Amino acid sequence: MVIRIGNEEEKEFILSKYPYTAQVMHQGGTLMIAVDGETITGFLWSFRREIPAPVGRTEEFINVIEVFDAERRCRGIGSLLVKKCIETARENECYQVRAYCDISNLPSHMLWVKNGFTLSPGKTEDGRIAGSYVAYKL
Ligand SMILES: CC(C)(COP(=O)(O)OP(=O)(O)OC[C@H]1O[C@@H](n2cnc3c(N)ncnc32)[C@H](O)[C@@H]1OP(=O)(O)O)[C@@H](O)C(=O)NCCC(=O)NCCS
Repeated sequence: MVIRIGNEEEKEFILSKYPYTAQVMHQGGTLMIAVDGETITGFLWSFRREIPAPVGRTEEFINVIEVFDAERRCRGIGSLLVKKCIETARENECYQVRAYCDISNLPSHMLWVKNGFTLSPGKTEDGRIAGSYVAYKL
Protein backbone atom coordinates (compact mmCIF):
# COMPACT_ATOMS: atom_id res chain seq x y z
CA MET A 1 0.00 0.00 0.00
CA VAL A 2 1.39 3.35 -1.07
CA ILE A 3 0.04 6.64 0.26
CA ARG A 4 0.84 9.61 -1.94
CA ILE A 5 -0.47 12.86 -3.39
CA GLY A 6 -2.84 12.18 -6.29
CA ASN A 7 -2.65 14.03 -9.61
CA GLU A 8 -5.42 15.68 -11.69
CA GLU A 9 -5.93 12.53 -13.76
CA GLU A 10 -6.44 10.45 -10.60
CA LYS A 11 -8.81 13.08 -9.24
CA GLU A 12 -10.87 12.91 -12.46
CA PHE A 13 -10.87 9.11 -12.23
CA ILE A 14 -12.27 9.20 -8.68
CA LEU A 15 -14.89 11.81 -9.66
CA SER A 16 -16.04 9.72 -12.62
CA LYS A 17 -16.08 6.36 -10.85
CA TYR A 18 -17.63 7.74 -7.63
CA PRO A 19 -19.72 10.75 -8.81
CA TYR A 20 -20.96 11.53 -5.27
CA THR A 21 -17.41 12.62 -4.35
CA ALA A 22 -18.04 15.84 -6.34
CA GLN A 23 -20.10 17.04 -3.35
CA VAL A 24 -17.06 16.99 -1.09
CA MET A 25 -14.05 17.33 -3.39
CA HIS A 26 -13.76 20.78 -4.94
CA GLN A 27 -11.18 22.82 -6.89
CA GLY A 28 -7.67 23.11 -5.51
CA GLY A 29 -6.96 21.46 -2.18
CA THR A 30 -4.87 18.34 -1.77
CA LEU A 31 -5.84 14.88 -2.90
CA MET A 32 -4.14 12.05 -1.01
CA ILE A 33 -4.64 8.55 -2.33
CA ALA A 34 -4.01 5.02 -1.11
CA VAL A 35 -2.84 2.78 -3.96
CA ASP A 36 -2.61 -0.99 -3.90
CA GLY A 37 -0.91 -2.13 -7.11
CA GLU A 38 -2.96 -0.39 -9.82
CA THR A 39 -6.01 0.15 -7.61
CA ILE A 40 -6.92 3.35 -5.80
CA THR A 41 -8.33 1.88 -2.59
CA GLY A 42 -9.09 5.12 -0.78
CA PHE A 43 -8.63 8.86 -0.74
CA LEU A 44 -8.59 11.93 1.44
CA TRP A 45 -9.26 15.43 0.18
CA SER A 46 -8.33 18.42 2.29
CA PHE A 47 -7.73 22.13 1.90
CA ARG A 48 -5.68 24.70 3.73
CA ARG A 49 -7.28 27.84 5.09
CA GLU A 50 -7.00 30.56 7.69
CA ILE A 51 -8.51 29.29 10.93
CA PRO A 52 -11.89 31.08 11.12
CA ALA A 53 -10.96 32.65 14.45
CA PRO A 54 -8.74 35.72 15.04
CA VAL A 55 -5.47 33.84 15.61
CA GLY A 56 -3.61 34.40 12.34
CA ARG A 57 -2.86 30.71 11.85
CA THR A 58 -3.74 28.16 9.17
CA GLU A 59 -5.32 24.73 9.38
CA GLU A 60 -5.67 21.78 7.05
CA PHE A 61 -9.37 20.83 6.90
CA ILE A 62 -10.19 17.28 5.80
CA ASN A 63 -13.42 17.49 3.82
CA VAL A 64 -13.64 13.79 3.04
CA ILE A 65 -11.88 10.51 3.67
CA GLU A 66 -13.06 7.22 2.28
CA VAL A 67 -11.85 3.66 1.84
CA PHE A 68 -13.94 2.59 -1.16
CA ASP A 69 -14.42 -1.12 -0.71
CA ALA A 70 -16.09 -1.96 2.61
CA GLU A 71 -14.04 -5.17 2.74
CA ARG A 72 -10.84 -3.13 2.83
CA ARG A 73 -11.95 -1.07 5.83
CA CYS A 74 -10.68 -1.60 9.39
CA ARG A 75 -7.25 -2.55 8.05
CA GLY A 76 -5.50 0.71 8.75
CA ILE A 77 -5.80 2.37 5.31
CA GLY A 78 -7.82 5.31 6.68
CA SER A 79 -5.20 5.85 9.40
CA LEU A 80 -2.38 5.83 6.85
CA LEU A 81 -4.18 8.57 4.90
CA VAL A 82 -4.74 10.63 8.06
CA LYS A 83 -1.10 10.27 9.12
CA LYS A 84 0.12 11.41 5.73
CA CYS A 85 -2.21 14.42 5.86
CA ILE A 86 -0.86 15.31 9.32
CA GLU A 87 2.71 14.99 8.05
CA THR A 88 2.01 17.29 5.08
CA ALA A 89 0.20 19.86 7.27
CA ARG A 90 3.17 19.88 9.65
CA GLU A 91 5.56 20.49 6.75
CA ASN A 92 3.35 23.41 5.72
CA GLU A 93 3.49 24.84 9.25
CA CYS A 94 -0.25 24.57 9.85
CA TYR A 95 -1.43 24.97 13.44
CA GLN A 96 -3.93 22.08 13.34
CA VAL A 97 -5.75 19.50 11.23
CA ARG A 98 -9.54 19.39 11.53
CA ALA A 99 -12.51 17.50 10.14
CA TYR A 100 -16.21 17.06 10.82
CA CYS A 101 -18.17 13.83 11.14
CA ASP A 102 -21.85 13.08 11.52
CA ILE A 103 -22.84 11.79 14.93
CA SER A 104 -24.25 8.60 13.39
CA ASN A 105 -20.89 7.74 11.78
CA LEU A 106 -19.27 5.41 14.29
CA PRO A 107 -16.42 4.18 12.02
CA SER A 108 -15.43 7.78 11.30
CA HIS A 109 -15.47 8.72 15.01
CA MET A 110 -13.34 5.66 15.79
CA LEU A 111 -10.87 6.61 13.06
CA TRP A 112 -10.31 10.03 14.66
CA VAL A 113 -10.06 8.57 18.17
CA LYS A 114 -7.53 6.00 16.94
CA ASN A 115 -5.40 8.80 15.48
CA GLY A 116 -5.38 11.05 18.54
CA PHE A 117 -7.91 13.68 17.48
CA THR A 118 -10.04 15.52 20.05
CA LEU A 119 -13.83 15.24 19.67
CA SER A 120 -16.08 18.29 20.00
CA PRO A 121 -19.69 17.19 19.53
CA GLY A 122 -21.74 20.27 18.64
CA LYS A 123 -25.39 20.99 19.50
CA THR A 124 -27.78 22.46 16.96
CA GLU A 125 -30.34 25.13 17.97
CA ASP A 126 -32.91 22.48 18.85
CA GLY A 127 -30.47 20.85 21.26
CA ARG A 128 -29.71 17.91 19.01
CA ILE A 129 -26.12 16.74 18.56
CA ALA A 130 -25.64 16.51 14.80
CA GLY A 131 -21.93 15.79 14.62
CA SER A 132 -18.45 16.32 15.97
CA TYR A 133 -15.63 18.59 14.92
CA VAL A 134 -12.39 16.69 15.40
CA ALA A 135 -9.00 18.34 15.75
CA TYR A 136 -5.34 17.42 15.91
CA LYS A 137 -2.89 20.02 17.24
CA LEU A 138 0.38 19.82 15.33
C1 LIG B 1 -14.05 6.16 8.08
C2 LIG B 1 -13.16 5.26 7.21
C3 LIG B 1 -12.44 6.15 6.18
C4 LIG B 1 -12.11 4.60 8.11
O1 LIG B 1 -11.17 3.90 7.29
P1 LIG B 1 -10.46 2.55 7.80
O2 LIG B 1 -9.45 2.16 6.81
O3 LIG B 1 -11.48 1.57 8.18
O4 LIG B 1 -9.73 3.11 9.12
P2 LIG B 1 -8.73 2.34 10.10
O5 LIG B 1 -8.75 0.87 9.80
O6 LIG B 1 -7.42 3.04 10.06
O7 LIG B 1 -9.35 2.65 11.53
C5 LIG B 1 -10.71 2.52 11.81
C6 LIG B 1 -10.90 2.19 13.27
O8 LIG B 1 -12.31 2.29 13.58
C7 LIG B 1 -12.74 1.08 14.12
N1 LIG B 1 -14.12 0.85 13.70
C8 LIG B 1 -14.60 0.87 12.45
N2 LIG B 1 -15.92 0.57 12.46
C9 LIG B 1 -16.25 0.40 13.76
C10 LIG B 1 -17.46 0.07 14.42
N3 LIG B 1 -18.61 -0.11 13.74
N4 LIG B 1 -17.46 -0.03 15.77
C11 LIG B 1 -16.31 0.13 16.47
N5 LIG B 1 -15.12 0.45 15.89
C12 LIG B 1 -15.11 0.57 14.55
C13 LIG B 1 -11.81 0.03 13.56
O9 LIG B 1 -11.84 -1.14 14.32
C14 LIG B 1 -10.49 0.77 13.60
O10 LIG B 1 -9.91 0.79 14.90
P3 LIG B 1 -8.81 -0.34 15.39
O11 LIG B 1 -7.77 -0.45 14.32
O12 LIG B 1 -8.31 0.23 16.67
O13 LIG B 1 -9.57 -1.61 15.54
C15 LIG B 1 -13.99 4.13 6.49
O14 LIG B 1 -14.77 3.47 7.47
C16 LIG B 1 -14.89 4.65 5.39
O15 LIG B 1 -14.46 4.78 4.24
N6 LIG B 1 -16.18 4.91 5.70
C17 LIG B 1 -17.11 5.41 4.69
C18 LIG B 1 -16.85 6.86 4.35
C19 LIG B 1 -16.95 7.76 5.56
O16 LIG B 1 -17.87 7.65 6.35
N7 LIG B 1 -15.96 8.67 5.69
C20 LIG B 1 -15.88 9.61 6.80
C21 LIG B 1 -16.69 10.82 6.64
S1 LIG B 1 -16.11 11.90 5.36
